[in-house]
Amino acid sequence: MTPPLGTPRLLLRPLGLSDAGQIQIVFPQWEIVRHLAARVPWPYPSDGALTFVRDASLPAIARGEAWKWTLRLKSDPVRIIGGIDLQKSEDDNRGFWLDPAFHRQGLMTEAANAATAFWFDVLQFPILRTSKAAANIASRRISEKQGMRVVGVTERDYVSGRLPAEVWEITAEEWRKRVAPRFV
Ligand SMILES: CC(C)(COP(=O)(O)OP(=O)(O)OC[C@H]1O[C@@H](n2cnc3c(N)ncnc32)[C@H](O)[C@@H]1OP(=O)(O)O)[C@@H](O)C(=O)NCCC(=O)NCCS
Repeated sequence: MTPPLGTPRLLLRPLGLSDAGQIQIVFPQWEIVRHLAARVPWPYPSDGALTFVRDASLPAIARGEAWKWTLRLKSDPVRIIGGIDLQKSEDDNRGFWLDPAFHRQGLMTEAANAATAFWFDVLQFPILRTSKAAANIASRRISEKQGMRVVGVTERDYVSGRLPAEVWEITAEEWRKRVAPRFV
């Protein structure tokens, strides 16, 4: 249901139960979770990744409500360095996280472009919306680089507390018309 995708530097592999062990090691870092939704338990329990993959992610994928990938460098395909997912939702269709050791190299921009192309070109949804903490500069910048616009301002509960939040949007038509190349 979720096909593998690729970008110049990354492999996007469909999430599986066997990924939980590696996710458990890399995901629970404050820099990763602080601007994620408060449903992420913190402190992160020792079975947090297994429970989330087994009881939430895989059932949502099976119901056709979500599409989820692990991220790996093509140069080191065994190691999981992050994740990206798409989901049916009114105002939060895409989420992502990356090991801080790999931040600010444009990697998530590549992954987000691949996942967004899948959302519009394969799944054929008319609109993609994402919600994020206004303080999440890196995530905002990715949306900006993709040609998304802010369509709502609100407040949400994050792992680090209740914060101002923004809803960003891009339509399929805007996505197809944008000048930037898809995967860089
Ligand atoms: C959001 C996240 C995935 C970005 O990953 P990344 O691979 O570092 O992102 P990219 O390098 O593709 O793009 C980030 C952009 O933000 C910019 N940026 C990042 N931190 C910044 C800061 N503190 N100040 C100014 N710009 C910043 C980068 O320079 C880059 O912009 P540029 O290409 O114009 O230089 C990563 O920061 C992360 O995992 N954060 C924690 C989880 C999270 O918040 N997920 C999103 C929830 S909505």
